[in-house]
Amino acid sequence: MSNSIVKPYIPLCEPNLKGNEKKYVAEAIDSNWLSGGSFLNLFEKQLAEFTGAAYAVGISSGTTALQISLILAGVEPQDLVIVPNLTFVATANAVKYIGAEPILLDINPETWVMDLNLLRNFLEKETYIEEDSCYLSVNHRRIKAIIPVHLLGNMCDMNDLLALANKYHLTIIEDAACSLGSFQNGKHSGTYGVAGALSFNSNKIITTGGGGAILTNDAGLAKKARHLITQAKSSTTDYFHDTLGYNYRLVNPLAAIGVAQMECLPMYIKTKQEIVGYYQNELSGIGAQFQLISSNTISNFWHVSFLVKNRNELISFLQSQNIETRPLWIPINQLPIFRACWGIDKDW
Ligand SMILES: Cc1ncc(COP(=O)(O)O)c(C=O)c1O
Repeated sequence: MSNSIVKPYIPLCEPNLKGNEKKYVAEAIDSNWLSGGSFLNLFEKQLAEFTGAAYAVGISSGTTALQISLILAGVEPQDLVIVPNLTFVATANAVKYIGAEPILLDINPETWVMDLNLLRNFLEKETYIEEDSCYLSVNHRRIKAIIPVHLLGNMCDMNDLLALANKYHLTIIEDAACSLGSFQNGKHSGTYGVAGALSFNSNKIITTGGGGAILTNDAGLAKKARHLITQAKSSTTDYFHDTLGYNYRLVNPLAAIGVAQMECLPMYIKTKQEIVGYYQNELSGIGAQFQLISSNTISNFWHVSFLVKNRNELISFLQSQNIETRPLWIPINQLPIFRACWGIDKDW
């Protein structure tokens, strides 16, 4: 027999399904309501109450939430949409799905979210306004929208961003995929713009396996979102579809998981905030640079993340100790389909 102690495996992030998930899924199945149903209605109500959004619309993923939000914002093929260069690829993909192109802007090196000074310089130097629309001077394409990404739970100064967006006629869609539970000045992420996208993928702070939601304060947009994600069927009896629709609605048994997860969300947030404090204290000696949380912002600290010089070595060492870590995303402009995107290399 070996005396060596096997260290318990510490995963980066795994779903916690120890609450009422099984019970509610069984109830959803027993109800025979699998597509829509009462759990979907309840989950949407819980999300709206928690975030303070007037409406939450359950949808199949964070990616589809972004895609539909772009449509709600009036983004059209050939438009340009400003996106931070450090984000999960889904943010930029959603722009492409519309037939629009992202303009990639670097993030602030300390907060890792949209750099508003860079954005201001860019808008001042490289754009012009005509008939209440903003255009990129170099090719006269319309810049219709901007997507701040609340990376790892942090947020850029949203009041500053709102003022800039207002001045340049840009519509704000928030990528709040990883920021459920993050607030700025007491206002939840995803509720500043015309629409905000949440994700409930299995590595998120709450999960439904796959799923997402659109947050909005606009009754008309919520109605339009529900219409678009149910194939734009304009009557319950006839198969009349009044525009291009999508089959994106969140299904009832997954929403049942979401309802159970929402019951635990305050505990998950508290635990995440305690865990990051532990890492910050313990790793101060190794030169780890943690994300600077913006003023007046409470982060959900979705993933504990820090910058180190010898990243790959550290990942390998931690792996040998049964501790899972991973590098953060590769910047979008380094991915083949976004290499030609206009923006990142310019010195504003
Ligand atoms: C910043 C960001 N945007 C969008 C998404 C896409 O969400 P989903 O995986 O639910 O489609 C994610 C998911 O990881 C994300 O982290």
